[in-house]
Amino acid sequence: MKKISVLLGVLLLSLSAMVMADPVVIKFSHVVAPDTPKGKAAEKFKQMVEERSKGAMKVEIYPNSQLYKDREELEALQLGAVQLLAPSMAKFGPLGAREFELFDLPFIFPNKETLYRTMDGAVGKRLFDKLDGKGIVGLAFWDNGFKQMTANKPMHNVADFKGLKMRIQSSKALDAQMKALGAMPQVMAFSEVYTALQQGVVDGTENPLSNIYTQKMHEVQKHMTLSDHGYLGYAVITNKKFWEGLTAEQRSLLSQAMKEATLYERSIAEQENADSLARIRAAKTTEVYTLSDSERAEWMKTLMPVHAEFEGVVGKENLQAVYDIAAQVAKENQAAKDKPATKAGKKK
Ligand code: LMR
Repeated sequence: MKKISVLLGVLLLSLSAMVMADPVVIKFSHVVAPDTPKGKAAEKFKQMVEERSKGAMKVEIYPNSQLYKDREELEALQLGAVQLLAPSMAKFGPLGAREFELFDLPFIFPNKETLYRTMDGAVGKRLFDKLDGKGIVGLAFWDNGFKQMTANKPMHNVADFKGLKMRIQSSKALDAQMKALGAMPQVMAFSEVYTALQQGVVDGTENPLSNIYTQKMHEVQKHMTLSDHGYLGYAVITNKKFWEGLTAEQRSLLSQAMKEATLYERSIAEQENADSLARIRAAKTTEVYTLSDSERAEWMKTLMPVHAEFEGVVGKENLQAVYDIAAQVAKENQAAKDKPATKAGKKK
């Protein structure tokens, strides 16, 4: 009897400890608006984690650079002041992980299939391995989309960029891209871009449509060229000490929620960009121009040498891997196209 009451007491104590224990708080800081692919996926992740952990884990989201700007947030993560970030791949240079700039090379991904296979395969793994020694664990790759150019003057030919001051993210590959076009690149935190465009501190910039629209950049840019000349995506990262301090169950819950949030994020990115384009057109503040094939060919001819220039930075193996994946995807697409034609041919 005595044994049973002692056992009951222990059980009650541990139960109340479980109930009363402070929740694990995960501060998720990011620089974009809540109604972007990244912002929405962060919300989805929060919902799943809080529901599934029954409140034992809490995710606090700080969008729009509310807590930290681009570079500061990486420092904050390393110091453990925040636990989750999703910086764009262009922002890993200051961490000494310049291989991530592979994703910034102009015209590197001919389609999303090549992109996803790169992120989800050996290249993505190699990039995350690079973070290990920096107190950071990579959890997922999130998508945004292909970038478009904006400025206060039309940008059709390469010559149109001459002398334009273009805001870029902190990536040497983007710096080289803008210089190859004849523009003057200027690194600037995302939160400062709208004001800099408005006040003429810079003349133009590049970003996917959902970022351009949600930051209202179209209100202060008279021209936009739909060029898809480069890509912008994210690496979702956490603090290694924090991650390893969690229980195996907590890590597994978070990993599963991250997996589902990633699928969701990738599934909405393209539509978010399409909707943003429609809204930008409707706002009528910006003339939208689509590059012609011959103009695209000129941009490509000018920009492709940046790949070779950055081979040593992003890793020859990584660059070659993207080319190989692109070739494989093209082969598969061609085979899929040829298939019905062969069948039809046989019927004849
Ligand atoms: C930018 O700084 O332009 C982007 O990285 C912002 C973002 O996170 O999408």
